[in-house]
Amino acid sequence: MPSDAGDILREIAFRWRNFATISAPAWKRCAGSWEQLTATLENPAIKTIDDLRTRFGADLDEWPRRLTLRELHEAVYLIDVLHRHVNTSSDINPPGLDVGAKNGTALPALANAMPGQWDLVEIDSHRRYATLSTRRAHGTRIARHYPPSRFIAGSVTDLTGPYGVVTWILPFVDPAPLAAWGLPNRLFEPERLLAHVRNIVTPGGTLFVVNQGKVEFDIQRDLFRALDMSATPIGKIESTISPFKRERYSWLWTAPA
Ligand SMILES: C[S@@+](CC[C@H](N)C(=O)[O-])C[C@H]1O[C@@H](n2cnc3c(N)ncnc32)[C@H](O)[C@@H]1O
Repeated sequence: MPSDAGDILREIAFRWRNFATISAPAWKRCAGSWEQLTATLENPAIKTIDDLRTRFGADLDEWPRRLTLRELHEAVYLIDVLHRHVNTSSDINPPGLDVGAKNGTALPALANAMPGQWDLVEIDSHRRYATLSTRRAHGTRIARHYPPSRFIAGSVTDLTGPYGVVTWILPFVDPAPLAAWGLPNRLFEPERLLAHVRNIVTPGGTLFVVNQGKVEFDIQRDLFRALDMSATPIGKIESTISPFKRERYSWLWTAPA
């Protein structure tokens, strides 16, 4: 993709973040209790959350002390989706990988739905919040609750695997969201990243991809085709507890044994 003034500024800012990496302590205002969330929801959603808490047990009682209200909502939505769409019957071995993990707040859902080690990789790990803490500081902190899981600051292309399950929630398949997230154009390389991910999933292992909107879902289909990956479209994700306004779609791909 060609450079423009916006791209040059994003490149400078990205380099600065990766130079000035020191973080303030990873403090955030956590939800405090499940009731803070359920008080904002309708009965069907409250019932779904109660069922998930009963099914997955004690660790979910701790989530409101580890996650903000919004993160709590996203995490319980994710465990609902994983539970219904990905095989969650056994522990993962080799480890699981979450690509583009932001600040690691998917980990509570991942580690409960599919227990075992999870690696969370994020290329823009040194992005800061208003508290001056970085995504990496938050990701590292949350990973401590789920040993031996770890937060990795870097590109997925640095990782060699193998991984038993890979989750990839909202990959950049369209350049506009990548720019909106403040990344330079040179990091827009959807086919190269997908080819790399394909190679680090262990034979028989699973890749679960979630796209935002039908347009990205269609682009994702073309990417799978271009790489000769016969992924199964799960289609539009239905959930009574979705916190998102825009529709989400998903895919499952199993690495040939
Ligand atoms: C649209 S965001 C989605 C974040 C998160 N998965 C979520 O659902 O909120 C895409 C994320 O992928 C990260 N990313 C982009 N290229 C990457 C790469 N090569 N390796 C690791 N992370 C990458 C971005 O920095 C960004 O945080």
